[in-house]
Amino acid sequence: MKLSVLGSGYVGTTVAACFADLGHDVTAVDIDEDTVAALNDGHAAIHEPGLDDRIAANVGDRLRATTDYDAIAETDATFVALPTPSMEDGTIDTSILEAGAEALGEAIAGKDEHLVVVKSTVVPKTTETVVAPAVADASGLTVGEGLQVGVNPEFLREGSAVDDFMRPDKVVLGSETARAAALLREIYAPLTSQVDTHVVETGLREAEIIKYANNAFLATKISLMNEIGNICKEYDVDAYEVAEAIGLDHRIGSSFLASGVGWGGSCFPKDVAALIAAAREVGYEPSLLEAAVEVNEKQPRRMLGLLERHVDVEGARVAVLGLAFKPGTDDVRESRAIPVIRGLLERGATVVGYDPIATERMKRHFPDIEYAASAADALDGADAALVTTDWEEFADLDAEFDAMATPVVVDGRHIVERRDGLVYEGLTW
Ligand code: UDX
Repeated sequence: MKLSVLGSGYVGTTVAACFADLGHDVTAVDIDEDTVAALNDGHAAIHEPGLDDRIAANVGDRLRATTDYDAIAETDATFVALPTPSMEDGTIDTSILEAGAEALGEAIAGKDEHLVVVKSTVVPKTTETVVAPAVADASGLTVGEGLQVGVNPEFLREGSAVDDFMRPDKVVLGSETARAAALLREIYAPLTSQVDTHVVETGLREAEIIKYANNAFLATKISLMNEIGNICKEYDVDAYEVAEAIGLDHRIGSSFLASGVGWGGSCFPKDVAALIAAAREVGYEPSLLEAAVEVNEKQPRRMLGLLERHVDVEGARVAVLGLAFKPGTDDVRESRAIPVIRGLLERGATVVGYDPIATERMKRHFPDIEYAASAADALDGADAALVTTDWEEFADLDAEFDAMATPVVVDGRHIVERRDGLVYEGLTW
């Protein structure tokens, strides 16, 4: 089929490249000329394993990028992967989505039929009340007739986005008409016929909320383990031993039980906040989700508290190892290193940060702290080290600790190997 993907951010680029790889003819549409030029040149504007290979293999053949919205008219279906940023109160800002939907509508005016699929993460009813009316008004097409509408949320993780798309646990296809459902099924057939996955066919609102429920559940699962971990710590119990045992109960499952300094990234904080705001909007106070956020805010403070048990933080030189929100990415959005560094600065510490790839991005948040070129450099002369990201290389640190002024390590990610002479403090173990 001929597909267009509106928005070439993280999700859009992955989706466009993977659909092309699956044999569809794909046009990526974005207003940013540099992003479009990069794609046509065979690479993505973002860092994601395997993505450039797929772009390079298909560009000039089944994949192209353009800033021209009119190209959408040549396609049968458009996946809308535009950003829905967070507002102060947690609600999502749908203005970019709405403007994109209008431009899309203008581009397809005069066509007999077009399928519009919302890939962006949106709260329930957004597709029905924002996207579909905007496309319908601008195109003159009628929703459910010429204008077919779908919701197809994405469950990609940064660092394994291509794999997650190509080998998904599930494909969620939301629609309200048999025609839209059939088109969605057809688009995904090249994938669902070759990999073992589950196709969930559901309504628009259901598909919208499934994405939030998925992320809220995982974020809450981590927060619950962090809460248990905080209790374990006070009883001198290793929460990782506890997690290993409870994870064997298949009703709990062993993944997402890694306790520590908490969750960050572009999805969990934003999506939990949006679900809380959406709940309040309909008069429901989601106390468990609020508690999940509260525990997540508590973890960096607990880390600083553990540090204070060993070091007088005022005037101390503290190395912060790991600035990315998780290993394998240079993304620092909502990274737990941010509240940790802020807390250190408030307490009058001198901070030296280190990350294998995320330093440049963290400089935008903290232009005035020191940054080291290696973990060894960061540790040299430091009074303490805080580990905020589980980069593999931190597991290999050993003699590097000898160069510290006082060898105190507070590990927020269960990654550093304990050794003689090291004052080691785990966050929940
Ligand atoms: C997440 C979801 O996993 C994905 O399905 C969704 O589409 C987008 O959001 P991502 O943000 O890439 O993906 O990261 P993920 O690997 O899920 O980790 C999120 C955060 O939770 C990281 O800060 C990570 O360090 C933390 N985490 C994860 C834990 O603290 N403990 C765990 O056990 C797992």
